Amino acid sequence: MSKIHLETPAGNSEILIQRNGLDEAREWIEQKHPGRRLAIITDSNLNEHYRERLAEVFRDAIVLVVAAGEDTKNPLDAANLVKELSKHEFDKGDVVTGFGGGMVTDLAGFVASTYKRGAHYTAIPTSLLAMVDAAIGGKTGVNVAAKNDMGTFYLAEHVLLDAELLKTLPKREFNSGMAEVIKYAATLDASLAKDLMRDELDLDTILEKSARAKVSVVQQDVKEDRLRQVLNFGHTFGHAIESQSDYALLHGEAISIGMIQANKVAQKLGKQQPETDQMIRRLLERFELPIELPKDMTVEDLLPYIVRDKKKSGKEISFIIAPEMGKYEMLKLTPEELMKMG
Ligand code: GLY
Repeated sequence: MSKIHLETPAGNSEILIQRNGLDEAREWIEQKHPGRRLAIITDSNLNEHYRERLAEVFRDAIVLVVAAGEDTKNPLDAANLVKELSKHEFDKGDVVTGFGGGMVTDLAGFVASTYKRGAHYTAIPTSLLAMVDAAIGGKTGVNVAAKNDMGTFYLAEHVLLDAELLKTLPKREFNSGMAEVIKYAATLDASLAKDLMRDELDLDTILEKSARAKVSVVQQDVKEDRLRQVLNFGHTFGHAIESQSDYALLHGEAISIGMIQANKVAQKLGKQQPETDQMIRRLLERFELPIELPKDMTVEDLLPYIVRDKKKSGKEISFIIAPEMGKYEMLKLTPEELMKMG
């Protein structure tokens, strides 16, 4: 069991890394918000697996189940959840908990942050991607015209990272989450590379190091003025690849290819040793992640998305490269320069 504290001007989080930690998550809520009611937001797949366990641990909680899948992450479904909370006469002093993958924690965090201008919020991520990334650091959101184009910064007061919950995660999704861990190994904590190459993975250590890497960035720049952009390593190309594939590729799969594209840019600029690229490739291959653009996709197809990329400021994009494992550099490049080198 270990704990990490995240303190930011936008709020604080306590992150607990603990196997079979649902009871501890409930005790934390009871201690911090005694006598308060709890609403758990989850999705239909998770509800099938965990309905009984949730009812056993969170005895008096209201469980609100949304349809599984990214389509549910929209303002209408968020409004329906608000209606449910109102129907149950929830108060802003009560607690909303997101139990699920990134879709659920983004949506539940958004609902909590807007319900009566902000109810208490805690998160129990169940996918690797949500554990190491989405549920840490306060980004919430729903999709309107684009992914996460309506959202808030609202930190979960408590986040449980429980590796036992990963046992029900399909392998492809587990591997997809590993792309974000590899991102941390490449840019922030080189020691993770060794952990990821072990025959027997120590998931608690991997979760803890990933959470510490993210916390080290978010506590200095919660609103993504600058430093937080390091977390976008692989994401400039990755988001474009994900959209162009029409979401046939999972987020981590697209980011995986995006990291290799970023390495190509770094190599062309003479800013990365070949061994760093080789190490990142080995890590991605270890988790069966793609490293090449799909056959029906060219770099030129990605240009319109990159031009629209929200990270574009003025004419140039803040583009992250990994000069060596565990280090990052922020470059300013135009979309056209990226196209030539990626
Ligand atoms: N997923 C990137 C961030 O939290 O900033």
